[in-house]
Amino acid sequence: MNLIELFIVILPAYVANASPVLFGRGVPIDFGKKLSDGKRLFGDGKTVIGFFSGLVLGTLSGFIIFLNFSEVLPDVSLSQKLVLGFVLSLGALLGDLLGSFFKRRLGVERGKPMLLLDQLPFILLALLLSFAYIPVLASKIGFFGFFFIIALTIFLHKATNIIAYYLKLKKVPW
Ligand code: CTP
Ligand code: MG
Repeated sequence: MNLIELFIVILPAYVANASPVLFGRGVPIDFGKKLSDGKRLFGDGKTVIGFFSGLVLGTLSGFIIFLNFSEVLPDVSLSQKLVLGFVLSLGALLGDLLGSFFKRRLGVERGKPMLLLDQLPFILLALLLSFAYIPVLASKIGFFGFFFIIALTIFLHKATNIIAYYLKLKKVPW
């Protein structure tokens, strides 16, 4: 896969990760639960509406992407690619929760920045789940593609958060 194809395939995970910033509000997904360390399971930054908005919009973006770019992943069936959008989104949202879980265990407060734990868990889990669903995807992306996606994600995460801050969508530029 070339760089543009790599970007196209991974895009639903980005959409799933970004949607909660716009739509997340209300009840936290951990319902306020604290663990024995006295810290929240995930914290107020992870909401039920945020999670499901990401799942719906990420999956929808996959539909739009894979219906329009049929030349990407030619030997994967269309129906599998449509489910792939959902799998990438689910992985991204679960990975994001996992990242917050670790931040809380390390004593990092909700919304405080933490290099790599803010940027990587969502993309790693999205990739992992998608490889579980379509094993050939791992070899199609390959080592180089994998590290390209990681680097691109770190860059885009930083850039989009700064933009979201100036658009007043986020209170902090990270
Ligand atoms: N968000 C949400 N539900 C989610 C994920 C994110 O509502 N499942 C929203 C929240 O408003 C959150 C914002 O998107 O504040 C930015 O997400 P993120 O940076 O991942 O959360 P943080 O508030 O920084 O919390 P944490 O420290 O746990 O990462
Ligand atoms: Mg954050």
